[in-house]
Amino acid sequence: MFVCQTPRAVYAGENALNALSILLASYQKVAVFSDRGIEKAGVLLKPIELMQNAGCEVSLLLDIPSEPTCDQVQEVVERYRLVGADAIVAIGGGSVMDVAKLCSVLSGEHTVRDLLADASLARRTVLTVMVPTTAGTGAEATPNSIVLVPEEELKVGIVSSQMLPDAVILDGEMLHGLPRHIAASTGVDALCHAIECFTSKKATPFSDLFAIEALKLIFANIESACLDEEDIQAKSAMLLAAYYAGEAIACSGTTAVHALSYPLGGKYHIPHGVANAMMLMPVMRFNFEACHDDFERIYDALGEAGAADKATWVLDRMESIVKILDIPTKATRYGISVDDLDLLVTAGLNVQRLLGNNKRTVTDEDARKLYLELL
Ligand SMILES: NC(=O)c1ccc[n+]([C@@H]2O[C@H](COP(=O)([O-])OP(=O)(O)OC[C@H]3O[C@@H](n4cnc5c(N)ncnc54)[C@H](O)[C@@H]3O)[C@@H](O)[C@H]2O)c1
Ligand SMILES: [Zn+2]
Repeated sequence: MFVCQTPRAVYAGENALNALSILLASYQKVAVFSDRGIEKAGVLLKPIELMQNAGCEVSLLLDIPSEPTCDQVQEVVERYRLVGADAIVAIGGGSVMDVAKLCSVLSGEHTVRDLLADASLARRTVLTVMVPTTAGTGAEATPNSIVLVPEEELKVGIVSSQMLPDAVILDGEMLHGLPRHIAASTGVDALCHAIECFTSKKATPFSDLFAIEALKLIFANIESACLDEEDIQAKSAMLLAAYYAGEAIACSGTTAVHALSYPLGGKYHIPHGVANAMMLMPVMRFNFEACHDDFERIYDALGEAGAADKATWVLDRMESIVKILDIPTKATRYGISVDDLDLLVTAGLNVQRLLGNNKRTVTDEDARKLYLELL
């Protein structure tokens, strides 16, 4: 058996943001979650105006930290409870959406740490609308929310279908002003979601469908979307791709790239997309034989022709994306040295939930070699 869980409605394309007026027409109090970087980019003005014109009283929660700890999320939960809204609109990247998703299922007395221990306590009582401003995590499509557990120095996913949103709005204009380096690393995160889910042991016909469409869009648009500020068409294509890749996660599961990048974020605070961009090529080369047929299927689905070796073409294409977008791939830049290897290997191998999805088994020695490639 395999399952495909999705948000109830997804609005995409030109002026998709206008859907806010329809969605919120019968709601009185809306809590808007976002962060200061997004506010500064100026992309909050239009959605707030649309909500106010729809007759909503809007409360702003704009201090959502990037990649927050569970305790930081709890502080936001306390503030949100004082607002008492009947709808939540998250306008932001994965960090903002994940925090908003947790608030939406914590209206009672439970805490974020309670959910870490038992996600079945999650109960959603408000309407939720996700408006991603990075393309991206695909958090708008998944039942997951990821928090840093400080005492374990590890990022942990809380998973509950209660966190699947009522509506998602994919509007390329929301990516306007996204700094180039963030567009690049978040775009490669979406690429990782798609390629890992397609090559995952947990892949299903549903996740394959979403992953392939994501890969087609990413391969065709990622450079323009990141390097040309005015190319809203490419940015819109990347938003759709990130959403599809998020659906692929919801239907399948990521593999060794995400597993081994978790400690890079949890202990060394390397941003999620950058950590995945670092691990992408070492893991893909490591997986090459085990995933050879998958890579060939991707090549065929892309409609490419003439390559001497189809699988190598796909590998090279991914490598060229990371290079052209100039994402830092050396962990030394973040102060990591050979002295950190033992810790990284132990922490990485703990993420068996994802490592178990990898077609080639990753041993201690393999993990050590993979991390060594970052130094
Ligand atoms: N829930 C899921 O399924 C899922 C999946 C993957 C990753 N994640 C999590 O998502 C988080 C990362 O999210 P992210 O990569 O989207 O980054 P982010 O949300 O942390 O944002 C990064 C930075 O980009 C800025 N920014 C975002 N949109 C902008 C815009 N349009 N203009 C200007 N600045 C903008 C923000 O202000 C912030 O400083 C991590 O915590 C990761 O673990 C969640
Ligand atoms: Zn990711």
